[in-house]
This record gives sequence, structure tokens and C-alpha cells, in this order.
Amino acid sequence: MSDEIKKGLLGIVVDETEVSKVMPEINSLTYRGYAAQDLCAKCKFEEVAYLILNGELPTKKQLKKFEKEERKERKLSKTLLDDIKKFPKKSHPMDAARTAVSIMGLEDKETKDNSPKANMRKVMRIFAKTPVALAAFYRARKGKKIISPKKNLSFSENFFHMCFGKVPNKEIVKAFDVSLILYAEHSFNVSTFTARTITSSLSDIHGAITGAIASLKGPLHGGANEEVMHMMNKIKKPENALKWINKALDNKDVIMGFGHRVYKSGDSRVPTMREYFGKVAKIKKDKKFEKIYDIVEKVMIDRKNIHPNVDYPTGPTYHLMGFDTDFFTPIFVISRITGWSAHIIEQHAANKLIRPLASYRGNKHRKVLQLNQR
Ligand code: SDX
Repeated sequence: MSDEIKKGLLGIVVDETEVSKVMPEINSLTYRGYAAQDLCAKCKFEEVAYLILNGELPTKKQLKKFEKEERKERKLSKTLLDDIKKFPKKSHPMDAARTAVSIMGLEDKETKDNSPKANMRKVMRIFAKTPVALAAFYRARKGKKIISPKKNLSFSENFFHMCFGKVPNKEIVKAFDVSLILYAEHSFNVSTFTARTITSSLSDIHGAITGAIASLKGPLHGGANEEVMHMMNKIKKPENALKWINKALDNKDVIMGFGHRVYKSGDSRVPTMREYFGKVAKIKKDKKFEKIYDIVEKVMIDRKNIHPNVDYPTGPTYHLMGFDTDFFTPIFVISRITGWSAHIIEQHAANKLIRPLASYRGNKHRKVLQLNQR
């Protein structure tokens, strides 16, 4: 009897989680029970990071302590900073991110300690240092002086400061913060499941997050936000969009930023991110990408009934904010470290080695012939 194969684990439930859920009754992604768009409206990213990691929204006192801890850990070692300066200028920032986290693992004194307290301390170090490492690479590859983190800036403000040397107006910072909240967590997506799989052998958190970054880089996953921008740049101007997208669909191309394994009638994060994309476009007085966005979305829905996912509005928003296109997915990383870490801690708390089966389709048993007989 042939085994029932569910390629891609389609529809297979492999474990329980308390971190997040897409609640059909409210058509919303929820983190620890709170709707993501509600969190976007009422919280800043640090509050949501605390929620995802600790299970509850912080009080003022808890938030102050969490922010102090995160800002204290922003400093990179001299070794890591020197290594980043030597990273090949042409390497992809996602590979730079993966390598930086690996180096952090080499240096971390608690790498061998998988206890909940040690893991949470390591999470804070990875969470705080990864944006600093990425911004350092952002500047170093352009031959620019690296800008040190500032303790009096929020997580989002500090990232702009380290990349561009200045903090934009508060509406832009808020839009960036919203993108980080929306990117933070999404249950058993492929990079999170990668992290959980690595953790299930009781390997360390640096290794699990390194693997998750490698997985997120793929264009079918986090890499899509960068590909969305490449698509928009190919289309160039709104008057080309209709012909371009119809030709692409005639060619059976996969259109980046569209479709989703879980959401089949629209990613619940898109309306919020689309709203902030519009706000940023208005501030930057550049409506071109919004016009392309709307034309392509309409054709995708009318012709294929395939809806945008969160990467579709996020790509052009980061472009308008001034980030290099290949830095869009690394921004996804600095946010998703929170979701990955929550799942790693959850996996440790109720672990079972993840080891699925395969249905063998190879040769039947056969005898080995000596080399001179072959
Ligand atoms: C993220 O899992 C998560 O939660 C991920 C994420 C998170 O927060 O962690 O939400 C973030 O990764 C969002 C997805 C970003 N990726 C992209 O935008 C890449 C483009 N999307 C597709 O590759 C696709 O939609 C997937 C991979 C995202 C999901 O695909 P599935 O569930 O494996 O479904 P499928 O590829 O089998 O598609 C089903 C049908 C196919 O047509 P048929 O072969 O049945 O005729 O729909 C078509 C596909 O061709 N289709 C698309 C399409 N997405 C699906 N056709 C054209 N363009 C697309 N984008």
C-alpha cells in the first residue's frame, strides 16, 4: 500500500503552540491572543517583542527594564565588528546576517547552556546585536564609516540612525515599527519550523536562528519582499503594469508577494501594511509604486483569485524609506528573531526530536560487484 505523502507537510499539524494563531473568526493573525493590527495601532515594536517572548504585554516598568536590557546589549565585540568590515562587499546581506549570528554564537559564553534563563539572555543578545551588525555591514559595504548604536533611541529609530546617520520623522518611524510588528511572528512558517527542527536535537539557539535566517532568505518565503521590488523596477511605470502582469501570468510566472500557504483569501496583515505604505508614499510624494501596486493586485485577484501577502506592500515601503533592496529581508530578520526565539524556547519546554519518515522509491536489494567486475 503506497504511503500517504503530504509534500511540503501541506495541512499537517505537527505540534502545539501558544505563540500565535490566525483566528478565522476575526480573520486576524494574533500574537498571544492579541490581534496584530490592534497591536500596531496601540503599541510600539518593543512592547510586541516583549509580548511574543514573555506571553504578556509589558507594564511600564517591565517595558523600561526590557528596553534597558536591549539597549545595553547593542554593543558588538571588536572581533565581530572587525569581521563585518572584512565581509565581501558583494555578499548578500542575508548571508552577512547569518554569518554575524554564527560569530555571536562562537563568542557567547552561554552557548552550551539551553536553560530557559540562559536562552532568554542569549535571545536578548541576538535580538539587540543583529540590527547593529546589519547596519554595520550596510555602511561598510559602501565604504562608509560605521555608526555606533545610540542608547537613547528606540529599536526602530536606532536602525535608521545606524544605517543613514539620522532618524526620519515620527510617521516614517511608526510605519517602520508597524512593519516590524507585522513581520514578528507567524506560527509554523518554514523558517520557524527550521528553527524548531534544529532545536529538537537540543542544539543551541545561535544555530537554530542561523538556520532560520538561511530559510527566510528564500524567495518563496522572506526573500519575496526583495523580489517584489525587483518586479516593480522591471515594470518601471504604472502605464506598463497591466501589460507586464498579464504577460507574466500568460508565461505562468510565479508573482512575488502574492499567495500564501495558510491565507487563501488574503493575508490579514496586508490592509494595515498597505495603509502605512500609502502614508509613506504621501510623505515621500511618490505615488508611482502605489499605482503599480493597485494595478498588479487587481489583475492577480481578477485573473487568478490570488491575494497579496505581507511582502507585497512592505517591499515598496522599505524602498521609499531609502533602504537598499537587498536589505529588505534582513529587516524581516531583525523582527522575526522574536518569533523564532519564542518558538525555540517553546520547543525546548516540550521537546520531541523531529524526525519524519520517507516513502522509499529506490532500487530493490542488490549485490555489490567488485570494481574489476563492474
Ligand atoms: C511569507 O508561511 C508563512 O506564514 C510565511 C510568511 C511568514 O510570515 O512567515 O507569511 C511570510 O513567506 C509569505 C509568502 C512570500 N512568498 C511569496 O510571495 C512567493 C510567491 N508565492 C508563491 O510561491 C506561493 O504562493 C507560496 C509558496 C507562498 C505558497 O504556495 P503553496 O501554498 O505551496 O501553493 P502552491 O505554490 O502549490 O500554489 C497553488 C496554486 C498553483 O497553481 P497550480 O499549479 O495549482 O495551477 O496557486 C498558484 C500555483 O501556481 N500560485 C501562484 C502564486 N502562488 C500560488 N501563481 C502565481 N503567482 C503566485 N504568487
